[in-house]
Amino acid sequence: MSTDPRSVNDLAVTYESHIQGKVVLVTGVSPGGIGAAFAIGIASSKPSLLILAGRNLTKVQQTALAITSKHSDVKVRKLELELASLAAVRAAAETLNHWADVSHIDVVVNNAAVMATDWALSPDGFESQLTTNHLGHFLFTNLIMGKILKAAAPRVINISSDVIDSVHSDLRIITFVINPGLITSNLDGHLQLYEESDADLESMLEIDRIMGNAIGWLGFENMIAQPPEVGANTYVFAAFDPEVTAHNGAYLQSCRVSDPWTDIVRPWATSTFEAGRLWLLSEKLVGQEFLY
Ligand SMILES: NC(=O)c1ccc[n+]([C@@H]2O[C@H](COP(=O)([O-])OP(=O)(O)OC[C@H]3O[C@@H](n4cnc5c(N)ncnc54)[C@H](OP(=O)(O)O)[C@@H]3O)[C@@H](O)[C@H]2O)c1
Repeated sequence: MSTDPRSVNDLAVTYESHIQGKVVLVTGVSPGGIGAAFAIGIASSKPSLLILAGRNLTKVQQTALAITSKHSDVKVRKLELELASLAAVRAAAETLNHWADVSHIDVVVNNAAVMATDWALSPDGFESQLTTNHLGHFLFTNLIMGKILKAAAPRVINISSDVIDSVHSDLRIITFVINPGLITSNLDGHLQLYEESDADLESMLEIDRIMGNAIGWLGFENMIAQPPEVGANTYVFAAFDPEVTAHNGAYLQSCRVSDPWTDIVRPWATSTFEAGRLWLLSEKLVGQEFLY
C-alpha cells in the first residue's frame, strides 16, 4: 500500500531541474491510468520530449491532448506499441529507432500491463499476460537500447506490483522496479470486485492464498485505493531523484527503497541470480540474445 500521499505534481516541482530537458518514454498511457498521470504530471517541468507509447492510438491521443492543451511548449510523440505480439513490438522499436530527431532517450518507464485477464495465448504462443507485462517490454527495451545508451545517465523503470519482477543491470543504466500500491485505474475494469458485483473477488483472494500472498487473508477492505496522480509519485522519484541512483536495481514503493523487514519484498526481486535466469529465459522466448 502506498503511504506517501504526495501527488505526481508535487514531485514534478521537487525534481523540476532534473526533468527539464529530458526525453521520457512511457508505455501504456491511457486516460485514467498511472502512466498517463505520470506523463501529464511531469509535463509542467518541461521535459524536452514525451514519447507516449500505447496499443490504442485514440487513447494515446487523448493523453497527448491533455498534455499539449496545458503545456503547448512540451513536445509529444505518439508510438503505436502492441506489447502482446513480439512482431508488433519489433515494428514499434523499428519505427522509434528510425526517428532521426530522437537521438537518445533519458528515461524509459515500462508501465503498460494487464491483470487477471482470462487465460489466453499470445500470437507467439506464450501466456498472454506474461507476454504483455514482461516479454514485450523486455524485447522493446532491448531493441531501443541504442537510443537509451546514447543518454548521459539513462534510467529504465519497470512497473510491477507486490508480485514483483526482478531486474538488475550490468550496463551503465540505472534501473528500478516499482510497486505503485493500490491505485484506482482501468486495470481491474474487466473484473467484478466491488459492492454488489463482486463475483470475482473471492476467486482472486483464493488465488492469492494459494500463491501465499498476504492479501489473500487480509482482504481488500482495509486497503484504501489512491488516485493515479498519487500512484505515479514513485515513478517520478525513480526516474529523477538524484540520490536513489545509489540503489541501482532496487525495488521501490512510496517514494523510497523498500524495506524487506517491513515491506513485502520477494526474494526474486533482489536476487541477481534469479535476475540472470529471467534474462536468459526471456532471451530464449523472444528468440534473440542481447549482449552488451
Ligand atoms: N492500479 C493498481 O492498483 C496497480 C497495483 C500494482 C501495480 N500496478 C501496475 O501499474 C501499472 C499501470 O497500471 P494502471 O493501474 O494504470 O492500469 P491501466 O489504467 O489499465 O493502464 C494499463 C495500460 O497498459 C496498456 N496495455 C495493456 N495491454 C497492453 C498491450 N498489450 N500493449 C500495449 N499496452 C497495453 C493499457 O492500454 P489499453 O487502455 O489500450 O488497455 C493501459 O494504457 C501496471 O504495470 C500495473 O501492473 C497497478
